Amino acid sequence: MTSPCWQARADLVVVGTGVAGLTAALHARELGLRTLVVTKLAVDDGNTRFAQGGVAVVLPGDHDEGDTVEAHAQDTLTAGAGLCDPDAVRAIVSAGPAVVADLRRRGARFDPAATGGGLARGREGGHRTFRVVHAGGDATGAEVERALVASARDGRVPMLENHIAVEAARTPLGAVGGLLVLDASGVPGLISAPAVLLATGGLGQLYQATSNPEVATGDGLALALRAGALAEDLEFVQFHPTVLYTGRGARGRCPLVTEAVRGEGAVLVDGAGQRVMTGVHPLEDLAPRDVVAGAIIRRLLEEPGAIDDHVFLDATHLSREAFRGRFPTVYAACQEIGVDPSTDPIPVAPAAHFACGGVKATVAGRTAVTGLYAAGEVARSGLHGANRLASNSLLEGLVMGTNAAEAVAADLALGVLADPWSAAVPELPVVPVADRDTLQRVMSRYAAIGRDAEGLAVVGSVLDVSAVDTPLRTRAEVEDAALTLAARALIAAAAAREESRGCHVRTDFTERNDAWATSQLIRLNPSGQPVLRWATAAVGAA
Ligand code: SIN
Repeated sequence: MTSPCWQARADLVVVGTGVAGLTAALHARELGLRTLVVTKLAVDDGNTRFAQGGVAVVLPGDHDEGDTVEAHAQDTLTAGAGLCDPDAVRAIVSAGPAVVADLRRRGARFDPAATGGGLARGREGGHRTFRVVHAGGDATGAEVERALVASARDGRVPMLENHIAVEAARTPLGAVGGLLVLDASGVPGLISAPAVLLATGGLGQLYQATSNPEVATGDGLALALRAGALAEDLEFVQFHPTVLYTGRGARGRCPLVTEAVRGEGAVLVDGAGQRVMTGVHPLEDLAPRDVVAGAIIRRLLEEPGAIDDHVFLDATHLSREAFRGRFPTVYAACQEIGVDPSTDPIPVAPAAHFACGGVKATVAGRTAVTGLYAAGEVARSGLHGANRLASNSLLEGLVMGTNAAEAVAADLALGVLADPWSAAVPELPVVPVADRDTLQRVMSRYAAIGRDAEGLAVVGSVLDVSAVDTPLRTRAEVEDAALTLAARALIAAAAAREESRGCHVRTDFTERNDAWATSQLIRLNPSGQPVLRWATAAVGAA
């Protein structure tokens, strides 16, 4: 039996300190909930700070310019390739103005428009108009994180750093009643609470090259599945079309080159200088992300100019001052590899970027398990479907974080949550753990853009032979176990979906198939294997 070294009590435990987690924690404090935030590294070590483009939002004044919430919703549904939940899309998109106003009230500073007193707007893939508010040019995530961390510190929200969430405490009826955590030395602690909100981000570390930092290891997804929650749409991992190419075989986090550069007129060209997106989609270089990433991969197979692993983003129509002023983060990253974007095309390649699926949750963050909530990238809210629209992720984090805090307050007031004292102290799980490097290699080779039945089976076999049942006593073991489970669940969903749709591109089923206009649910069976449970009804625009 696990004996926690310490025990604490809260109304709500928030796991994660990105946009969704901190928004939820701040809101929960304002609602009077005793809230404790837990994060596995330092408070600002998450993925939010790397977001560049901004927050997609239609503010009241934008109606005069011809933009509407409905147009934003339609662009989201189109990008989602038939698997969005239209109600979730409209709920999240229409909540945008309020959450952006809240964020500004908390001190976030967005870039002002050159004239007119409003906010500046960028344009990104899949958006029919300039709709994305940004900060510091291309440093929106950093500003959002700065403002939220500062507010949390000012508001004295307790934050437990360097503690990783391992397992949910559960009552005999299966409700969540707390969380077992490990500190950096592996010492366990128990936080008893009737509500646990997972805001743990994504799983980009399943792949060798990703825009995500090293913390993006799918921890919340694995914990939720082990607690009995359902996951959905896991096969849809979005590859960002343009991360900076830093050389063959790049590993780990690669710097983003925001889509907003294409919004300012930059175009993709191949190694032979030919445009990549001409004739591929009516929006050309501003097509939705899955379309652009897929077109790049197809072009690379032709090895134009004898280059098979990157293309170029030509932004040379912008002066050095203009580029550096609008995109200081990208400019600095280019400088580090000796590229001047005003004179040289920027070498770029697709890399794993965003989990469109995740723990099945309502837009208020409620999951199938009483007391367990999920918000932000870890959650599958129905906003993204088979492919997320650019700059909808910070928006989703702000809205779901706010909603989840309200849902917890309401559920507590209604008395529908469990008494945490009835939850058993969880055992440290003993679960399959594969070698991370091996896992990343096979996922990148066989389960990235362009998958087939044979390759997915290879991933399954490699995981079978390399994974060893291991008690989760350290952060690395918790993370590697999460990656192993996430990989297994992802390849099960990807193998079953015999079509190509959104971010899921099958080389043996190259067309979209209307019979597959459904989402796949995943749960764990009693022996801990991910199983596809059923498919929901077809939803959303085609
Ligand atoms: C980007 O700026 O291109 C990334 C923003 C996003 O992922 O939505």
